[in-house]
Amino acid sequence: MKITGKTRIIGIIGWPVKHSLSPIMHNAAFEHLGLDFCYVPFAVKEDHVEKAVKGIPALNISGFNVTIPHKESVIPFLSETSEEVKMIGAVNTIKIMDNKLIGYNTDGPGFIASLKEAGISIKNHSLLILGAGGAAKAVVFQSAIEGAREIIIANRTIQKAISIKNQTEKYLPSVNLKTTGIGYDELKDIIGRVDIIVNATSIGLKSGDPSPIPNELINKRLFVCDLIYNPPETSLIKYAKASGCKFMNGTGMLLHQGVIAFKIFTGSEAPIEVMRKSLEDALKNLNRGK
Ligand SMILES: NC(=O)c1ccc[n+]([C@@H]2O[C@H](COP(=O)([O-])OP(=O)(O)OC[C@H]3O[C@@H](n4cnc5c(N)ncnc54)[C@H](OP(=O)(O)O)[C@@H]3O)[C@@H](O)[C@H]2O)c1
Repeated sequence: MKITGKTRIIGIIGWPVKHSLSPIMHNAAFEHLGLDFCYVPFAVKEDHVEKAVKGIPALNISGFNVTIPHKESVIPFLSETSEEVKMIGAVNTIKIMDNKLIGYNTDGPGFIASLKEAGISIKNHSLLILGAGGAAKAVVFQSAIEGAREIIIANRTIQKAISIKNQTEKYLPSVNLKTTGIGYDELKDIIGRVDIIVNATSIGLKSGDPSPIPNELINKRLFVCDLIYNPPETSLIKYAKASGCKFMNGTGMLLHQGVIAFKIFTGSEAPIEVMRKSLEDALKNLNRGK
C-alpha cells in the first residue's frame, strides 16, 4: 500500500481499539481493488468522543467505523442518521459527505447476511436472543424486520431486555416479542419451542468462560449462533457441535457488517472473499499456539 497526499482516510474509533480486525479486513479490500484508501485505528477514550468526532470532517477523513464503547455516545454529534440508527439507537458506520456526518448501523444487516450465507432464514422462525446490549439490539431489530415469528430476549438484567422490547414495539408494533431471565428453568421451557439461539452476551469471550446455556438444554433441532468470533469455538459452539446442531460463530457477522460498510465508504462492491480470507488469516494468527 502506497500512501500519498491523495490517499483517502477511513478510520475506526473505539477504546480499546488495538484488537480490532477491521483495519486488516478493509485494507486488504482496498489493496485488492487498487483503491487509494487507507484504514487506520484511532484509540479514543470516552471523554474524548465529542472532540474526536467533531474533528473528523476538519481532518478530511472520508468515513469511520465506531466500536465499543462509543456506538451510542457518538449519535449527538452526527448531522443525520439512517432509519435503523433511529430505531436501534447505535451507530457503527459514519460517512462524511459535504462536511456532514451521516450515521448508519450495519451490524443487524451483517448478522442477517451471515445467516443467509449459512442457509438460514429468519422469516417465520422463533428466535431466542441471549443478551440485551448493543449487539442484541441490532439483532432483535433486524430479525423483527426480517419477519421472525417470535423473538424472545433473555438477559441477566431483565429491565434491559424489556427496554429493547418496548423500543422495538414502538417501531414495529406487530412483532411478537417476549422477555425472560437467563435462569435454567426459564430457558428450559423456551428452548423447546425456538428454532434459532443467538448468544449476544459477552459470556464466552474469555477462555474458560462457561456456555450461557447449560449443555443439556441444547438439542440438535436448533441452529446455534454465537456472535463471538474470538475465540472461534466458545463453550456454546462446542456443545452445539457435539449435539449435532447446525451452528456458526460471529466471524460471518463481522465480515458482512464490514462488507456493507465498505460499500457505504467507497461506493464500490466489496471483494467479500478477500475480506473473508484476511479475517480468517488474522484470527488464525491470533490463536496460533493457544
Ligand atoms: N460478530 C460481530 O460482528 C459482533 C458485533 C458486535 C458484538 N459482538 C459480540 O457480541 C457480544 C455482546 O456485545 P455488545 O456490544 O452487545 O456488549 P454489551 O453491550 O456490553 O452487552 C453485553 C451483554 O452480555 C451480558 N453479560 C455480560 N456478562 C455476563 C454474565 N457474566 N452473565 C450474564 N450475562 C452477561 C450483559 O448482561 P447485563 O445487561 O445483565 O449486564 C449484556 O446483555 C460480545 O461478545 C461481542 O464480542 C460481535
